[in-house]
Amino acid sequence: MTDTTMLGMPSVREPHEPRRLGLSYFVRTFGCQMNEHDSERIAGLLEADGMVRAGDVNDADVVVVNTCTIRENADQRLYGFLGSLKAAKERRDGMRIVVGGCTAQKDKEIVRERASWVDVVFGTHNTHRVIELLDHVEEWGPVTEIWEETVSAEDGPSSLPSRRDTEHSAWVTITTGCNNSCTFCIVPIVRGTEISRRPGDVIREIRRLADDGVVEVTLLGQNVNSYGRDLDLNGRQPLFADLLRRAGEVEGIGRIRYTSPHPKDFHDDVAHAMADTSAVAAQLHLPLQSGSDSVLAAMHRGYTAERFLDKLAMARRLVPDLTVSTDVIVGFPGETADDFEQTLAVVEEARFDNAFMFQYSPRPGTPAASMPDQVPPDAVRERFDQLVATQNAITFERNQTRVGRVESVLTEGPSRRDADVATTRSEGNRIVHVPGSFEPGRFMSVRVTRAAPHYLEGTAV
Ligand code: SF4
Ligand code: F3S
Repeated sequence: MTDTTMLGMPSVREPHEPRRLGLSYFVRTFGCQMNEHDSERIAGLLEADGMVRAGDVNDADVVVVNTCTIRENADQRLYGFLGSLKAAKERRDGMRIVVGGCTAQKDKEIVRERASWVDVVFGTHNTHRVIELLDHVEEWGPVTEIWEETVSAEDGPSSLPSRRDTEHSAWVTITTGCNNSCTFCIVPIVRGTEISRRPGDVIREIRRLADDGVVEVTLLGQNVNSYGRDLDLNGRQPLFADLLRRAGEVEGIGRIRYTSPHPKDFHDDVAHAMADTSAVAAQLHLPLQSGSDSVLAAMHRGYTAERFLDKLAMARRLVPDLTVSTDVIVGFPGETADDFEQTLAVVEEARFDNAFMFQYSPRPGTPAASMPDQVPPDAVRERFDQLVATQNAITFERNQTRVGRVESVLTEGPSRRDADVATTRSEGNRIVHVPGSFEPGRFMSVRVTRAAPHYLEGTAV
């Protein structure tokens, strides 16, 4: 069989009658919410083609692997998983293996080289082509198709059918791609330049979701604060703050979150919109990355530690009872012990409620990968452990401040550990375990009775 490689942008075919009635699929997702959301769209397309979800990867006729290339270990996990699929394919006649997403976009040849049993390789800009590419396999054999860019946001995954995992909660993409150039980050390379969806289209999608029973939406973009800069609505650029306010007016949506803002573009108009719009959760994910000005400059982040702390103080002043989480990278090239101490000092001062902490890992293709003074892995690990210990203590302390308070929570379902306990999520995005059985997707009030390092316990009020 030959592997047809198609680059560029073939025309999108008209929707056809379902052809794979009764066949089963399995989607495995690596990476961030963007990928999770794209996977929902891929599952939606497969179901529109007549397929049903398989409970186990070994029972699937089509296995889609949606990949992430943000860190080296994501690549390692991918190739490990593809290795296990080789054996599964040998056992199951006719199984098709499809690899899409960020690693496929960046490393299509490597995927082919390391996993020759893959049938389809597609990228981040042509998710909507998955069915046509499977059709191609049946007629012509394995295929690789990578587009260089998304033509417009409405041709992107947002316009596709969706198969959500949770009925009451949904992601809504507001922008794809990123125009920033953080030197450690591969995302602009694999996701392309930023494209905003028109506000009317976003609001229409939220309304449709509300009609479908969704009560919580999370607006997604690599940098939500630059939303609308590429749009021209009769000479006016829509602003993210206005979009938040409009989203807050959609009947039936009780909670709106968004991720992520970029500190350099986060201004008080967004904080005011959060404070004024009751449906918008008092929760902010503001990625710090480093507390050292020289490291921030080398990362191309566009702010200093002081400026970051000023923005944080502004947000906390304007949005009552704000919960704040962050991202921090340890061991960026050139980070000295003193730089790291500065990160620790900012983390101590900022008192984040939660943090996602990472050990720097060079990504080929990014400027930072070829920077001198890569920090030795032992030093990175040591600093990472110190940061984790510092932040964990702060997270626990912040959780303890919630004890005795009444929180508005959204029920998710029975806890994985105890079916008699419900897992719920507070406005500040904390997990709160509540004894009892409650229908998923219900808002209720809970008094917090106990704080653990990474969750809370409470009783329904
Ligand atoms: Fe990557 Fe920076 Fe864009 Fe975020 S803002 S996606 S870290 S380039
Ligand atoms: Fe997300 Fe990973 Fe791609 S973090 S944008 S899935 S590289």
